[in-house]
Amino acid sequence: MQVSILGATGMVGNATLREALNKGYQVKVLVRSPEKLGELKEKVTVVEGNLLDSSSMERALEGSNVVINTAGGVKEPDQYAKFQRIGTLLTGKMNELGIKRLINISGAVMTLPEENLDLKRKIMKVFVGFLFKEMKQSQEAILPIILSNKNIDWTIVRAAMISKKEGVGNVLADDKQMPGMAIKLDDLGKFLVEQIISKQWVNKAPFVASR
Ligand SMILES: NC(=O)c1ccc[n+]([C@@H]2O[C@H](COP(=O)([O-])OP(=O)(O)OC[C@H]3O[C@@H](n4cnc5c(N)ncnc54)[C@H](OP(=O)(O)O)[C@@H]3O)[C@@H](O)[C@H]2O)c1
Repeated sequence: MQVSILGATGMVGNATLREALNKGYQVKVLVRSPEKLGELKEKVTVVEGNLLDSSSMERALEGSNVVINTAGGVKEPDQYAKFQRIGTLLTGKMNELGIKRLINISGAVMTLPEENLDLKRKIMKVFVGFLFKEMKQSQEAILPIILSNKNIDWTIVRAAMISKKEGVGNVLADDKQMPGMAIKLDDLGKFLVEQIISKQWVNKAPFVASR
């Protein structure tokens, strides 16, 4: 099965790409700078381009059954507007190409329309807005676009703090409350890749943490 991974040169994307290759998936990536993939470049189909470009997006998704979007806001201007465009292009091309499954990274401070933030997440949101402004903007922009696409079987994976310590492979997931404050990077990669075939979290937005 071919999987498209967006944001594969990022921290979460790299862990996800490694895990997808370990699990034997054929992988296509859309990256602005192929050299950032290092030795992994030889193991995947690389589309060099920009997520803001319609034809790059189409080439990146063609032939895939599933998309894992790990792209997030970077320290560049207009991340909210750019990720609105990225969300619109991504979901539009998925619909055009008949791809139904989308696994999308997000953050623990993001809320679904019917949810309220508890005090812990309210405090976290202030910190995230201050320290990781672009990431927050990108996720705020893309979330409603994904949720409004009724043809897409989405899973929004809400990670809290990501730690680079070695993972144990045990992930706690809960779509009502945060099961912990931190997730190890390789545990997050494993969880994202497991969602390719798992139906458990379709149209849900689990919070995830390492056990
Ligand atoms: N890091 C954390 O602690 C943390 C915690 C919770 C949730 N998250 C979520 O995870 C997401 C990713 O985090 P991360 O730490 O992996 O971020 P990252 O290392 O900055 O990676 C961002 C990725 O998005 C790509 N990207 C951004 N704009 C693009 C564009 N226009 N065209 C093509 N690629 C583009 C970047 O490509 P380039 O390499 O070309 O810039 C990079 O591959 C965040 O947005 C956030 O929602 C992160």
